[in-house]
Amino acid sequence: MAVSRKISNPFKPGAGHMPPYLAGREQERDEFKKLLNQDAILDNLVLTGLRGLGKTVLLETFKPMAIQVGWLWAGADLSESTSISEANIATRLLTDLAVVTSSIVIGMTPAKKAGFTEGAPQPLTLDFAALKGFYDSTPGLVADKLKYVLETVWAHIEATGKRGIIFAYDEAQNLADHAAKDQYPLSLLLDVFQSLQRKGVRYLLALTGLPTLFPKLVEARTFAERMFHIVFLNPLSEEDTTLAIRKPIQKESCPVDFAPESIKAIWTITRGYPYFVQYVCREVFDVWVQAIDAGHPLPTIPIQEIVRKLDSDFFAGRWSRATDRQRELLKIIAYLPSREVEFTVQEVVESDVNRALGKPFSGSHVNQMLVSLSEAGLIYKNRHGKYSFAVPLLGDFIKRQSAA
Ligand SMILES: Nc1ncnc2c1ncn2[C@@H]1O[C@H](COP(=O)(O)OP(=O)(O)OP(=O)(O)O)[C@@H](O)[C@H]1O
Ligand SMILES: [Mg+2]
Repeated sequence: MAVSRKISNPFKPGAGHMPPYLAGREQERDEFKKLLNQDAILDNLVLTGLRGLGKTVLLETFKPMAIQVGWLWAGADLSESTSISEANIATRLLTDLAVVTSSIVIGMTPAKKAGFTEGAPQPLTLDFAALKGFYDSTPGLVADKLKYVLETVWAHIEATGKRGIIFAYDEAQNLADHAAKDQYPLSLLLDVFQSLQRKGVRYLLALTGLPTLFPKLVEARTFAERMFHIVFLNPLSEEDTTLAIRKPIQKESCPVDFAPESIKAIWTITRGYPYFVQYVCREVFDVWVQAIDAGHPLPTIPIQEIVRKLDSDFFAGRWSRATDRQRELLKIIAYLPSREVEFTVQEVVESDVNRALGKPFSGSHVNQMLVSLSEAGLIYKNRHGKYSFAVPLLGDFIKRQSAA
């Protein structure tokens, strides 16, 4: 029987898709466990990293860990619209809170006369309507209302013996204050949690997002610097990458296995970036299954072809949005020795590639263009004022483009 009909491809390249085997990340999990052990919440979580590093799926694995040791888990993806106004973020919090509190009974309704018969008293729970009721009947600003609801709910949570509630928000880089509209939803979120945590309420914020997230939090409220423990996701080590490649097919008791040369080739292409690992393995697996079905021996990995496909699927769209002059600057950056980590404006200006240009970039020009490249999501500025590529392995792609 054809293998392809027996074994489906286990690899899962795709945003938020749980990998068949989640490699590494033990240290990150340990760090999260420590946060769960806090009696008074002093440290909240920021889980950050470039696109496709595995933030969403790791956050997903934190959920059962937290629940197992007695926490409740509330959360969602933060879209841009959540962050438009203070009222929106308040609704978001109440909606997510209601999911975990709606089964908590806080009393009974008074017996009602329904028609001619006495209506039996009904249990009063902390469902969304109840939370919204508290919220609407509290005077003051959005922050006052929210604090009141969250604090009132806390008394009931504590009575149930639960440790606390994790408020987990993915894509939290979408949070922003809007001074022009006089709306400060990001500052509001930080103020409310800080104030409640000071009172000993165990609500823990777990925010996940791109590397722009933490600088944004600190810009909104300087105390955010002390309020969060940052977990920065790096690519997987070579050893963990090997596990990410091999474990899934071992699990499926697959008749093929990756030879050491194949693993080395996949490592060279992906350098441990989780999305790329899933992507390349998925392609290789398909090629092999087709060969087996056709009764051919296993071919070697078609590296060139897979890289070309990856370039057009992943990088080309981003690259095509850059202007010619932006591409020229990105090319200079791609050839900087420090590009993989971080670089400064000065390094760009002083680089040989820049100097060799007919019209070299000046410092102020580079500065200006890095701002527009940040807005386009290709570059980001870290907390120390240095820059990095915001897309993994973008430098390699650019070099391939210039070599083509
Ligand atoms: N530890 C891991 N081992 C193997 N594969 C992983 C691991 N972490 C993530 N992946 C895979 O990498 C891909 C990206 O994961 P995920 O969507 O969680 O990344 P992300 O950081 O949230 O990306 P984005 O910034 O685009 O939201 C998915 O295909 C996932 O299955
Ligand atoms: Mg994600």
